[in-house]
Formats: sequence, C-alpha cells, structure tokens
Amino acid sequence: MKKKTKASKHRNPNPKKSVRTLAIDIGGTGVKAIVLDDKGHPVTERGRIVTPRPATPQAILDTIAELAKGQGVFDRVSIGFPGVVRKGVTITAPNLDPSWKGFDLVHHVEQWLGKPVRAANDADVQGFGAIQGEGVELVVTLGTGFGSALFVDGRLVPNLEIAHHPFRSKKTYEEELGDKVLKEIGKKKWNHRLKLAIESLEALFNYDRLYMGGGNAKKVTLELPENVTLISNVAGLLGGIAFWQMDESPLVKMKVARS
Ligand code: BGC
Repeated sequence: MKKKTKASKHRNPNPKKSVRTLAIDIGGTGVKAIVLDDKGHPVTERGRIVTPRPATPQAILDTIAELAKGQGVFDRVSIGFPGVVRKGVTITAPNLDPSWKGFDLVHHVEQWLGKPVRAANDADVQGFGAIQGEGVELVVTLGTGFGSALFVDGRLVPNLEIAHHPFRSKKTYEEELGDKVLKEIGKKKWNHRLKLAIESLEALFNYDRLYMGGGNAKKVTLELPENVTLISNVAGLLGGIAFWQMDESPLVKMKVARS
C-alpha cells in the first residue's frame, strides 16, 4: 500500500463530498470565522469576537475555540494571521503581542480543534480571495495594521511587509495609515495620505492592479485610479479556501468565489 504523505493526508478522501473549511481571520480588532464549502461559498453566518487583550497565543486560541463552537461541522481550517508566518510558525505580530514570536500556530490549532490547519499572513490570505491570477497584482489591507500581498501570475511572494517600510516624514506606511492614525487625523487627511501611498506603491511595483480591502476600505472616499479596486472585507475569509485548493488543482485555484 502507498504510504500516506502529509499532502495526501490533507486531501479530500471522498471527492464527491463537499469539504468544509473553517476560515479564520485574526485581526488586531476582531477575530472572525466562517465555514466555506469547497466552492468557497459561505455556509454559515460569520462569527466575530473582539480581539482579547493582551492578545497572547493562549487568549487567541481560546477565542478561536469559542468561534469554532458556533460554526458547526468542518473538515479543515485556514487562518489568516496579522504578521509574518513561516511554515505555520508565527514570526511577528506587531498588533497582537510579542509572545507570538516563534509560536507554532498550526500545530496548536490542530491539537485544539483536531483538524488539519494551514496558516498564512492575513493579507496573503485576503489576496487569494481577490486576485484574478494574471500579471502583477498587489493587495493592501487597511485596518488596525497595513497589510500587503504581492502576486505574480497568481503566485504569491509570501510575507511582503510594506507596513513597516518607510513611507514619508520618517514614518512607515502603518504609522501613517493604520487605524489609530485614521482616528487621530480624520477621514479627509487620511484619504489624502492614501492617495500619496498609492502613487508611491505604483511607482515601486508597477502593478497591473491594486486591490484595497480591510475594515477601513469603506472609509476610502478619494477618486481611485482605473487600476485600483476596492474589495470587500469578506475576501479576508474567502481567501481561506483558495490556499487549500492550490495543491489540489492548479485550475481551480483562481476560481474561488469573489463576491
Ligand atoms: C503586519 C502585517 C499584517 C498587517 C495587517 C502589519 O502590522 O506587519 O503582517 O498583514 O499588519 O494585519
């Protein structure tokens, strides 16, 4: 008999049965969860719990367990995490807690929920739910932090961290455009800064398309250039299906629901 590899263990053993993915988005303000069918369509009501403070790994694991309880049956889990994630281990978490450095998130949630788990940076996951899979596509998320994800012909350049890169006046993109500063300076000034940021990002990446999502995308009032699209915050959860489908069939990987 063929030995089970790690990948085959995670594949749908019964392809006729729709696999349900519990998609979790850990944010600096809220932790969200929804169950998606294998087409990426939501099959439950989205659950949301305010991010506990201090946002330690244990506090977030408890929150995930609480959300999972309210979401019914699922076969696997995907997690968008607000920091750098390498092979399931969290490396940074600027808007959560320093104790996330070196935490094996995938392993702990697998133990906790008893299902296979994948985790990636939140903007990377959101990007999978938004992109078309052609050319250079940049995704930024406007929320507590400033998320960013870069795709080339549908392939992700993982963990692109524009957030902490200098933007202007010796401040970073996140310091100039994060949620905290939006509350301080108001929508008008924030939109002006965002316009400058878009110009700067276009000059740097020469993208074919820029997508802007995240909780504060609804605060965008500036007139957007033709190659910039606003995306719904729900994409943060819908992308959770795409990064499971990647190794199942390259043909379905971009065909996830984008509503
Ligand atoms: C983090 C990113 C994250 C973004 C949005 C930033 O502070 O460095 O990794 O994607 O916030 O949550």
